[in-house]
Amino acid sequence: MNKTPILAPSILSADFADLGGAIKKIEKEHASIIHVDVMDGSFVPPISFGQPVIKSIRGKTKLPFDVHLMVNNPENQIESMVEAGADALTFHYETTEHIDKLIKKIKSFGKKVGIAINPETPVECLSEILFDVDIVLVMTVHPGFGGQKMILECVDKIRVLQKLKAELGLDYKVSVDGGVNGKTLKTVVNAGADIIVSGSSFFNDTLNWEF
Ligand code: DX5
Ligand code: ZN
Repeated sequence: MNKTPILAPSILSADFADLGGAIKKIEKEHASIIHVDVMDGSFVPPISFGQPVIKSIRGKTKLPFDVHLMVNNPENQIESMVEAGADALTFHYETTEHIDKLIKKIKSFGKKVGIAINPETPVECLSEILFDVDIVLVMTVHPGFGGQKMILECVDKIRVLQKLKAELGLDYKVSVDGGVNGKTLKTVVNAGADIIVSGSSFFNDTLNWEF
């Protein structure tokens, strides 16, 4: 049995009229990270929410916020996201050509760095980057919407990333995002996920988080 992973509920699937209530539920149910999905209407079609909303919920919990930036030009958002209360900033490999610079910028604020890859982006693209990040976020759906079906072909990336971590002596966390539910949870846990993001199934109580 793999070690118990960390649960990171995504507030994207919460009732936005009651984010305080959503946070109470997250705190009650084994979670240790809050996953905050920021979408810009450009890298992904929808716009979700931004710094003002994050700031307003920051005071409601001590749990760390991992801000998943599904935005183009993520470098423009770092400082204001830190000010709003981000503890980790996860940006997409596909959104910037200045990955080194961006990692340094996030670290300069003393925050954790995550890199996310879309379903069609291979793990090999990260070979130079793995040394410098705290989290690798494997997208198991196309980013942009909650409630999608998991693309099972992506699950193997979790195994590959765990193998590379051991071979290279690194200590990043492998996180998985998209389509985790009561049925697929076991699959991603067995593949070795360290952090499990869950939106719709967490909030509709079908995740069945039991180990
Ligand atoms: C999708 C987001 C996810 C989303 C997951 O673009 O990055 O974090 O909230 O939602 P579920 O768990 O419903 O697939
Ligand atoms: Zn996400």
